[in-house]
Amino acid sequence: MRHILRKVRLGVLTGGGDCPGLNAVIRAIVRKGERVFGDEIIGFADAWDGLMERRTRPLTVETMRGTLPRGGTVLGTKRGSPFDSADGVERVRSTMSDLGIDGLIVIGGNGSLTVGDMLFREHGIPVLGVPKTIDNDIEGTDLTFGFNTAVQIATDAIDRLHTTAESHDRVMVVEVMGRHSGWIATHAGVAGGAAVVLIPERPFDIDEVCERLVRRHSRGRFASIVVVAEGAIPIDGSLAVPDQSHDDYGHVRLGGIGSIVAAEIGMRTGFETRPVLLGHVQRGGTPTAFDRFLSTRFGVAAVDAAHEQQWGSMVALRNNDIVTVPLDVAAGKTRTVDLDLVSNVAEIFFA
Ligand code: F6P
Repeated sequence: MRHILRKVRLGVLTGGGDCPGLNAVIRAIVRKGERVFGDEIIGFADAWDGLMERRTRPLTVETMRGTLPRGGTVLGTKRGSPFDSADGVERVRSTMSDLGIDGLIVIGGNGSLTVGDMLFREHGIPVLGVPKTIDNDIEGTDLTFGFNTAVQIATDAIDRLHTTAESHDRVMVVEVMGRHSGWIATHAGVAGGAAVVLIPERPFDIDEVCERLVRRHSRGRFASIVVVAEGAIPIDGSLAVPDQSHDDYGHVRLGGIGSIVAAEIGMRTGFETRPVLLGHVQRGGTPTAFDRFLSTRFGVAAVDAAHEQQWGSMVALRNNDIVTVPLDVAAGKTRTVDLDLVSNVAEIFFA
């Protein structure tokens, strides 16, 4: 591996949905780069847009002060990519060469890491990835930062819902985030003592869900928590789900399956049922200590990887060590929940 001994100038952007821990990663990059190597760190506002439009933010130890516990991202974020416009890649290239940037650190989820990988492999642009998402669905890393915070928020909500459900003998259907994977639903469902958890990896049968709840209530429990990942889907023909709208970037706008499931449970079982949509509450606010620590380790490792010229890599957590893996391990893929874990651990606790 070739080491760059001189100080470097690094660009940083945050892409996709925001996520608790983004500022902790940026702060760690700045701290390690500036203090240890004498690097200069340049932030780009609003993800790829800022890079293409040369909208920069000064990132120094001073400007990052106080940001460790802050949710969101000081850089702003947006969906979209340089590949959406004919001259996008050239604009990225010219910004980087005009500003003398040696490499770009992309802190992002599946979409941004895929873009980073294409910029590196197809256009030779030096990119490093840092895996971010509350969904925890990135291949190549055991965990993403932000996930632990989202699970804690969902679990806290479920804890609160237990007492109101029990007071009224109700079924509460809690919809959590998780577009293609049920990580948050499975972890928060187990941690919060849910009776049923529905995840995208395993299409559900509403008849079976209702039977399970009826069986549970016939055993003397009159309150139940059902956790539904926003991307959960019914098995073909078992439950009508209306067509969903799309956002400006063509993503299906999710959010609503919990209300459909709640209405159906209420109608079929006669149990009083209420839907609760946690939505973006799961992404807002301060990161947990666990996520602050993981973000910090990722940020420090990204700067080391830059000085080792490991372009085309992503920092990752593997068996509690921080390593680098090729970006294409993550690009274009989704890490789904291990169904053995669901059958052998989680389901033992469900109704
Ligand atoms: O990918 C993270 C995520 O929070 C998903 O869980 C969710 O489906 C999506 O982002 C929501 O996106 P938006 O903020 O655009 O509504």
